[in-house]
Order: sequence, then C-alpha cells, then structure tokens
Amino acid sequence: MDVFRIRGGHRLEGEVEVRGAKNSALPILIASLLVEDGESVIRNIPDLRDIYTCLRVLEHLGVEVDFKRETSTVRLNASRLRGFEAPYELVQQMRASFMVMGPLLGRLGRAKISLPGGCAIGPRPVDLHRRAFEAMGTRIEDEGGYMVAEATPLQGAKIYFDRPSHTGTENIMMGAVMARGMTTILNASCDPEVVDLAEALNSAGARISGAGSTEIIIEGVAALKPLDHTVMPDRLETGTFLVAGAITGGRVTVTGARPDDLGLVLAKLAEMGVDVEVTADTVTASLSGRPEAGTVVTYPYPGFPTDLQASLMALASLADGTSVIRETVFEDRFLHVAELVRLGAEISTVGDEATVIGVESLSGASVMASDIRAGTGLVLACLAARGESVVNRVYHIDRGHERLEERLSLLGADIVREDTDK
Ligand code: UD1
Repeated sequence: MDVFRIRGGHRLEGEVEVRGAKNSALPILIASLLVEDGESVIRNIPDLRDIYTCLRVLEHLGVEVDFKRETSTVRLNASRLRGFEAPYELVQQMRASFMVMGPLLGRLGRAKISLPGGCAIGPRPVDLHRRAFEAMGTRIEDEGGYMVAEATPLQGAKIYFDRPSHTGTENIMMGAVMARGMTTILNASCDPEVVDLAEALNSAGARISGAGSTEIIIEGVAALKPLDHTVMPDRLETGTFLVAGAITGGRVTVTGARPDDLGLVLAKLAEMGVDVEVTADTVTASLSGRPEAGTVVTYPYPGFPTDLQASLMALASLADGTSVIRETVFEDRFLHVAELVRLGAEISTVGDEATVIGVESLSGASVMASDIRAGTGLVLACLAARGESVVNRVYHIDRGHERLEERLSLLGADIVREDTDK
C-alpha cells in the first residue's frame, strides 16, 4: 500500500497547472451512454483512479473505450450496449457510478444498479435520485442490494429536490435528455460541473436550459449526436494548491484555472489573511506570517464547498486565533479532525461544528486518509508540520488528484511516495 512521506516546513513556490475536474469528467463520460451512433470525444480527462473505475463501468455495459493518457483524451463508442447493470464491486468503489442509471433509463428504459452503501463521510442515501426517477414513470424494485428499474419509456416530469443533490441533478438531467416530454428540476444543484455537463449535452443536441440556476428545464429529444467536449478545470484542486501555497508561507500560482468558480473560497482565503491575486485563468495565493482565524460554513454551491472543508481546517489549525467551521452538507465529515490533532492541532467538535484554536506550529506524525478530501487536507497540514510525517491510505487521494506528490515536489515540497509492501 502506498504512503506519502513528507518532511514539512518547506515554502512552496511557483506555478502548477490544474487538471480537468474529476466531478465534471465522470458524468460527461457517463453521458456518452446516451449516444446511439458514433464516437464521443472528451478532452482534459484527469488520470485518476476514479476515472478508471468509471471507464470500467462503461466497458462493462458494452462501451468501447480508448483513453490516451498522453493527450488526456477519451474516445467512447456506445453504439453496441450489451448490458444495463452496474455491479456492486464497481459502484462500491465509486458511488458516482450510480449516475449510469439516468442514461440507461433514458436510452434503454431499464437499469439494474447496485446501491452504493455507506462511505467514510456518512450514510449518503440515493432516495432523491430514486424518487425523481419514480416521478418520471420508473418502476423500481429492490433486489439483493440492487435497484432494478424499468421505464417504458421515461416520461418528463416536474421534479422537486428536497435539497440540491449534485449527482442527483446530473443523473436526472441525463435521463431527461431522451425522456418523452419536458422535465423541470426545482431546487437543482447550481454547481459549475452541472453546467459543464449541460454544455456537453447541449452541444450534442440536447435541449437543456437553466443549468447553473436552481431551476433546470430539459426538453426530451429523440437522439443525441456524439459528444465533443473539453472538461472544465478542477476548482477543488485549484483550492488545494492555493492552500498549499498559503499554509507553507509560500506563493503558488495555479494556471489553467477558472477563478469565477471559486468565489467564496477565494473570499474566505482573503478573510484569513491570504493574499489572493486573480487573472482570467490564474489564481495566486501567498501568505507571510500566520493565517488569521476565520468562520466557514459549508453549503451547496455557491456556498463554501464541503470538499475543501478539511483543507481549510488545516490552514485554520495554524491561525492566529480561533476559527469556527460548520459542516452542513454531510454528516460525519470530521474524520480528519482526529488526524489533525495527532499533528498537534487543537480542534474540538460538537455536532456539525468544529472549533479550531490556532497553534503556532504542527509537528510531524503518522496520519490516515479516510477519503479523498480528508486525505488532501492532511497532506497540506503535513507540508506545514515540522519534521517527518507519513500519510497512510494514499489510494484515497489518488482517486481525486493526479500524481499530487510529483506536482507538490515541483513547487518545492519534500514529499515522496513509498510502497510499504516492498
Ligand atoms: C457530489 C460530489 C462530492 C461533493 C458533493 C457535495 C461528485 C462525483 N461528487 O457528491 O465530491 O462532496 O457533491 O458537494 O460530483 N442526499 C440525500 N439523498 C440523496 C442524495 C443526496 O439525502 O438522494 C444528501 C447527501 O447525503 C448529502 C447532501 O444530500 O447530505 C448532498 O449530497 P449530494 O450533493 O448528492 O452529493 P453527491 O452528489 O453524492
């Protein structure tokens, strides 16, 4: 099993190019299932474990897949689907696989999808996806841990989400593209990745309007042309590198970024004393001295992203003052707290609120990544901690960041990957 060995205390300086957004690439690759004829081409695909898992799900369904890592381009031909089942062993590895349900119902009128089960950040139900597909005329039976769904055909409907589910919105949007009639999603997720998916689909002939707002309208069409799309830059990775610059008292410029997607993140960094400079496609973060304390509440977009909560907590743990961080999107998303405390942070939690009393320095220790984002937050804390740290279960981090250690090294970090089994 791979670990990261990090010697902290080096200032990070320089430029790093952000990769394509995992959370946008996944639904867009999955959307290729809707294309009955021809080859879809998706560019700027990051080289990540979750992408390989997604491609395996698509291959399992009969999609011909060709991923050219050198050019970050995937070609997909879904003209001969041979199944409609997403098996447990794949969905359990990556719950985003559940999103094949929409395209399969839209195109074939049937789908058999494993329920994702729990994960490290809480129970994460799929009831909103389910209720929406039922409202669209789908009959769903539970069989041995699977949802067996049939729609003859999928019908447009008015969908009310109790809360704006990100992948729920994408799943329903993909189903609705080829459903009969018009679908309206109310209280839809406004995330930029939803907009990216809508743009990819619209350029292939879909009729989606309102993506990026809380009301999305989809008029069903009979068929789509092949997708031809370049995936948006990863705003979460951009945020990660910015915190890396700030937490080490350095200066990091992220290139190829889309600063507009990061409004509240940049505002919060500035509130914590980080100097943030923005151009059309770069963001630079620098910090001299300790960060200031901040108040952060995670919230659906355009609120502060839950996926950057652990990274911000790492920064807050070194602040001059006491920060308060509330996690309102997921239950149990504080697993990194105990690990940050191992590094010398002073953090206590009550319910969904963490109080972070800033300390002057952290010191190296062995810590454990529990999911992608918690793991990234720990790497950032270790970059700032004095002495040597080991981050275990790096496979979580590899799900969301392409060779993170190599790119941090180029910025001046002392971080190496080691295989503990060798
Ligand atoms: C997506 C992102 C993930 C991010 C999250 C929140 C992808 C692949 N993943 O996950 O990185 O952390 O958005 O920004 O894009 N909920 C229900 N019932 C449902 C669906 C969701 O109760 O059917 C709840 C969840 O438990 C959670 C909240 O809604 O409390 C938001 O979850 P959701 O937006 O659906 O997250 P994902 O789409 O799974």
